[in-house]
Amino acid sequence: MRHLLGIEELDTDKALALLERAEFHGKAARTGEISPGSLRGKIVVQLFFEASTRTRASFEAAAKRLGADVINLSPSSSSVTKGETLLDTARNLEAMKSHAMVLRHPTSGAPHFLARHLRTSIVNAGDGTHEHPTQALLDAFTIRQRLGRIAGVRVAICGDISHSRVARSNALLLGKLGAEVRVAGPRTLLPPRFGEAFGVRVFDRLEPAMEGADVVMALRIQRERLVGSLLPSTRDYSRSFGITRARMRLAKPGALVMHPGPINRGVELEGALADAPESLVLEQVEAGVAVRAAVLEALES
Ligand code: NCD
Repeated sequence: MRHLLGIEELDTDKALALLERAEFHGKAARTGEISPGSLRGKIVVQLFFEASTRTRASFEAAAKRLGADVINLSPSSSSVTKGETLLDTARNLEAMKSHAMVLRHPTSGAPHFLARHLRTSIVNAGDGTHEHPTQALLDAFTIRQRLGRIAGVRVAICGDISHSRVARSNALLLGKLGAEVRVAGPRTLLPPRFGEAFGVRVFDRLEPAMEGADVVMALRIQRERLVGSLLPSTRDYSRSFGITRARMRLAKPGALVMHPGPINRGVELEGALADAPESLVLEQVEAGVAVRAAVLEALES
């Protein structure tokens, strides 16, 4: 694999191969075995132009498990503050012979732009409202681990669909793997024609979307991307769209709860539910390291 830019560009066989390999890395981590040092002597550069906890740390953990050295750069501590462009910054890092560049950027398409100009492999760690492919892979991995399959599983993705790259990548990947995907959110946070574009059913109320779901995925309101007043108030939002214990009764008995993090407890997800046995939140984080190891290892450069 040359780059991982989005689920759109990833064919189903490749996605399945990555999930298989992630299983190997997940087992190795659980049994305390060291994953093979396939990236020993290589440099992985992390360029994060937006805040991150899980994604950045788990790429770093994965790279280190594979024996790579990791360089972390954020705009505030780099020459971006002196006016250097993204491309110049990336070209300079490439000159240091990096194996891969993991990029998170507020502009949709930023990783695709770098991939057109660099030889180093680019991994998209979230580009604006566009895609977050490794999140979708780790979510698929987590669902399959818990339910033993993805095909035929009904997944309701709930919240700020308009601004969520997680919703887009998940709708694409879970759809490719045969899941029945539904999305739900307030009308102002549902992009036009999302249903046709992503092959999913779209609901402007939570209840019908959650009916019979095997998995309910809650998403944060992307306040940093909201322009104007698309929401009445946080309290109104959580009253109509918050995932609560009571609402989970609409889903299948024993249905699972997911959230990519960071959680705004009591807004999109009831705090107690996030910590309940049916919550996969920390399993998702664990899966993130295994999946990202599989991705870094699969890159050609
Ligand atoms: C998500 C992101 O950055 O898109 N977080 C993550 O990577 N786990 C979701 C979010 O920020 O709400």
